[in-house]
Amino acid sequence: MGSYIEFKNVKKVYNMGEVEIEALAGVNFSIEKGELVIIAGASGAGKTTILNILGGMDNLSSGEILVDEKVISKRNTTELITYRRHGVGFVFQFYNLVPNLTAKENVELATQISENPLNIDEIINAVGLEDRKNNFPAQLSGGEQQRVAIARALAKNPKLLLCDEPTGALDYKTGKSILKLLQNTCKETGMTVIIITHNLALAAIGDKVIKVKSGKVDSIVINDKPVDVEKVEW
Ligand SMILES: Nc1ncnc2c1ncn2[C@@H]1O[C@H](COP(=O)(O)OP(=O)(O)OP(=O)(O)O)[C@@H](O)[C@H]1O
Ligand SMILES: [Mg+2]
Repeated sequence: MGSYIEFKNVKKVYNMGEVEIEALAGVNFSIEKGELVIIAGASGAGKTTILNILGGMDNLSSGEILVDEKVISKRNTTELITYRRHGVGFVFQFYNLVPNLTAKENVELATQISENPLNIDEIINAVGLEDRKNNFPAQLSGGEQQRVAIARALAKNPKLLLCDEPTGALDYKTGKSILKLLQNTCKETGMTVIIITHNLALAAIGDKVIKVKSGKVDSIVINDKPVDVEKVEW
């Protein structure tokens, strides 16, 4: 049996008029079900591109991607919509909240298209926003908006949770509690969680660490004993 996720020589070229930008230059890796995976690498390395393609939000130029033994790189639009709606939760680098919906409504919206959503109030409490749930995004700090985005993705109860710099806007303590929530969710529910970060100290919390450099995988390290978020300092 193959792995839960397989990237096989995945390439992505952006055509910008005269110039071509090779964002991914042949990426290979595999991820098992229930793993907590850290993707690290410098700015421009291709991390967000990997997540967008895996999340079915962008297409690849060549190569193949399998998720749960299905080739997602060749799926038609309807199949991709189903996969995105029910299978994938996404925390975007820049939150992407709906501005005219409150924090709670943003979370509700995501659960409406999900087959097996979690309790909205419990998730909002878990990210520490019980007092802010009736505020609009513009009335929230960057870190609070980021936590709404995390609650929204988690509430869908997806099989695969993709997080692009989920703690980038958070202070140390809040960031730690969010990472703890992600690590616990992964361990307790078997959700596969992928986290992009610039912070190499976080590598220790992952079951697997994939380092990306110039559109390629630079190294893959498997941690036999991933460290509890509470024990990591950065
Ligand atoms: N829509 C796009 N059109 C053209 N080029 C793009 C596009 N998206 C990304 N790129 C380019 O592809 C490369 C990889 O970008 P990507 O966003 O994946 O990097 P990243 O590793 O997420 O960086 P960061 O840490 O800054 O978020 C960069 O050179 C970027 O400029
Ligand atoms: Mg990025």
